[in-house]
Amino acid sequence: MKIKKISKAVFPVAGLGTRFLPATKSIPKEIMTLVDRPLIQYAIDEARAAGIKEFIFVTSRGKSALEDYFDSAPELEASLKRAGKDALLDALRETNMDSGAIAYLRQNRPLGLGHAVWCARRLIGNEPFAVLLPDDVIAAETPCLQQMVEAYAQTGGNMVAAMEVSPDKTPLYGVLDVAEDMGAIVRAKGMVEKPKADDAPSNLAVIGRYILTPKVLNNLNRMKQGAGGEIQLTDAIAEEAQGDSNVYGYRFRGQRYDCGSKAGFLQATVAFGLARPDLRDEFGAYLNDMIALQKAAQ
Ligand code: G1P
Repeated sequence: MKIKKISKAVFPVAGLGTRFLPATKSIPKEIMTLVDRPLIQYAIDEARAAGIKEFIFVTSRGKSALEDYFDSAPELEASLKRAGKDALLDALRETNMDSGAIAYLRQNRPLGLGHAVWCARRLIGNEPFAVLLPDDVIAAETPCLQQMVEAYAQTGGNMVAAMEVSPDKTPLYGVLDVAEDMGAIVRAKGMVEKPKADDAPSNLAVIGRYILTPKVLNNLNRMKQGAGGEIQLTDAIAEEAQGDSNVYGYRFRGQRYDCGSKAGFLQATVAFGLARPDLRDEFGAYLNDMIALQKAAQ
């Protein structure tokens, strides 16, 4: 089987982030920081590690801070250079994108995730591509999309990141209908967006990393409304799971944080803070004190 390399990734970042109001009144939620790096930087790093060369952002009004974030900052760089702050200079350079490597386009109406991805169809063209939802932050030794690219080299087709969730949580996710379970990889015969626990075909949930064929974009052309009245990416992928399915779920190795929710964001902040050598001791000691205080108060 000849597998085409994945070099383009779509980042749907048009959402209003209302769950984080009032913060998101003036900053895009993707710029909110885990320790000292915005959410979007984690997604970009993961995409780079997987070999992505072209980054397509589907944005909306009020997201210009994102464009500025990836631009070079010559004055800031010059001042850090003069001050000999090399480590900060390196951190800053990680945010720069090569000319032409990044494209922004607007989803002018909030019609759903499927519609957002469809907006990028002309930039994607006729090749397989990745989609990363920056709300899903995944801590992993081998970055999640890289794991998927390696698995995709065996399967081809469409691949979604997958994770077992407790049955009462299926209404929060796309859920796979499993035809064949091969361990890390499953072949799906269907996919349902946000089913009630009783209607869910399994408890294997889709997490925001996808490798998709251009056929999925064709399916999106029909603009069928799905769950919540939105044009769902899940439905367009599910069409490819009919008959001779080429839709696979991949149980990634790693810890996923739902940074689209406040509790998930706080959990990620603690985990990433504790993982940082420069913060671990001080922050860990503080958390231990907090826990001891809470226990004493009970
Ligand atoms: C989206 C997808 C859903 C997927 C989830 C993962 O939902 O529509 O299929 O399971 O991301 O985070 P959202 O959380 O944006 O409503």
